[in-house]
Amino acid sequence: MKSVKTDVLIIGAGAAGLVSALELEGLDVTVLAKAPVGEGSSSSWAQGGIAAAVGEDDHPKAHLKDTLDVGVALSCDKAAHVITHEGPQLIEALIAWGVNFDRDAEGKLSLGREAAHSFRRILHAQGDSTGKEIMRALGQAVSHTQNIHVMQDFTAHDLIVENACVKGAFAKGKDGSDLAIIAKATVLATGGIGSLFAYTTNPAESGGEGIAMAARAGARLADLEFVQFHPTAIDVGVTPMPLATEALRGEGAHLIDARGVRFMPSVHPDAELAPRDVVARAIWRRVKAGEKVFLDARDAVGDEFPTRFPTVWGYCQDAGLDPRVQPIPITPAAHYHMGGVDVTLDGQTSIKGLWAVGEVACTGVHGANRLASNSLLEAVVFGRRAAQDILENLDNEPLANLPALGLTGGIDLGAQLANLMYAACGVERNEASLFDALSQIVEWEQKSELYSREFCNRLISAKMILVCALERCESRGGHFRSDYPETDEKQATRSKTTLREVDAF
Ligand code: FAD
Ligand code: SIN
Repeated sequence: MKSVKTDVLIIGAGAAGLVSALELEGLDVTVLAKAPVGEGSSSSWAQGGIAAAVGEDDHPKAHLKDTLDVGVALSCDKAAHVITHEGPQLIEALIAWGVNFDRDAEGKLSLGREAAHSFRRILHAQGDSTGKEIMRALGQAVSHTQNIHVMQDFTAHDLIVENACVKGAFAKGKDGSDLAIIAKATVLATGGIGSLFAYTTNPAESGGEGIAMAARAGARLADLEFVQFHPTAIDVGVTPMPLATEALRGEGAHLIDARGVRFMPSVHPDAELAPRDVVARAIWRRVKAGEKVFLDARDAVGDEFPTRFPTVWGYCQDAGLDPRVQPIPITPAAHYHMGGVDVTLDGQTSIKGLWAVGEVACTGVHGANRLASNSLLEAVVFGRRAAQDILENLDNEPLANLPALGLTGGIDLGAQLANLMYAACGVERNEASLFDALSQIVEWEQKSELYSREFCNRLISAKMILVCALERCESRGGHFRSDYPETDEKQATRSKTTLREVDAF
């Protein structure tokens, strides 16, 4: 097997991974990713923008309050304080790396509004192409930085662990080749879990494998049951589902049923701008009952649609829709994972030598639910923090022996798994649906030698999410149990777990 040595291995080339890489000055950094930079990451697909209290009347304290309010008493206050108070500095850093945020006629940053934000504080670029612009600038900065080497088209599947310390990872190339990357520090930046679900806004690369790799290495995981479903994925039979950004509702677009009647005002005082889980559930209940639901931007956006929301406009055009004169058919889809690998405020996991940043990590910022546009912010703030911590804590102990890898088969039942997870652990779950899905996964796991490593990793992540969803017998934020529909104040504690505990369930 080919092997390479590096100081820091970063697995994942989204916003979190690239910011960490750029901040690791003076070290040899290898960024490994399934796809080229700018492709195969949620970061490149981000639409609405990045939240930060940079407006004249706004303050990080107000941003902190909004973040904690939607987290339903589960957020880590310190982590939320960190992102909201360090956010403005990271916006400056992004601008210094070359990100061109949209500005008004006077040259001031133009700020959008999204649900549950008490101020206009969403910075955006080229209307709704914020992620593409951020990734263009970060990718360019990385390509001009000599100490960073990008290895694209490699899928990491196992961490290299020696004496309870992570020392790199094994990966498979697109051409089938095996590779070992031996590193003094390893950063997981593999993004989310969307493609564990049949209906998702995430790229196919977001399969939750980072969670499984960390779990098998013995790391602690947190809040895995909390999956956010975006209310307005465009329902035109395309997978992954194109997103109709929440910023459309921020500009006044309405949700209507097939008769053209708005239903959100009777569900929540903030109507279409209620927290995301509330809106997703209201839509889901109609969809489940066989109704169609639409996002109507005809009056609120109208003729400005192509210039203000060019990405969504492009998706609508591809589907033969004209949102200036037609409502957009939508349905909820898996969008973001609040849970992940449990980390400190410096991105350290519970295992020596392993850090985690971005969506794969769980800093606790989002609690049971995430405020719109806080995830790009979390990715860049904690991407920097983890890098600073690595610079101070690099372990120079060399790897003694490269462990051997067992052989596996090549079968991948990703589509079946995704159907199972969406049906069993979607917008609403219950004990029976979760147990059924779990028993199917256990059955698959018994024949694990037949399956690809990537699929085995997806099975582990799915199993851990199911078990955590079974253990939380209440409804809170993104976790709605139809058999326990109320929030139980006695369960207002974050869930922490390990693979060993899940296997003993
Ligand atoms: P990603 O950007 O997803 O990057 C993950 C990287 O890891 C990719 O390079 C991937 O190829 C790689 N990878 C995955 N598994 C492996 C593996 N096994 N081996 C090697 N490489 C691997 N958030 C906001 O704040 N504002 C928004 O406007 C917004 N809009 C969104 C719109 C869409 C359509 C989506 C899907 C998400 C949106 N989000 C938004 C969420 C946000 O984009 C993500 O949470 C954030 O970008 C995650 O960044 P990341 O770097 O952690 O992961
Ligand atoms: C969106 O633009 O609606 C997505 C924003 C987010 O997920 O934060």
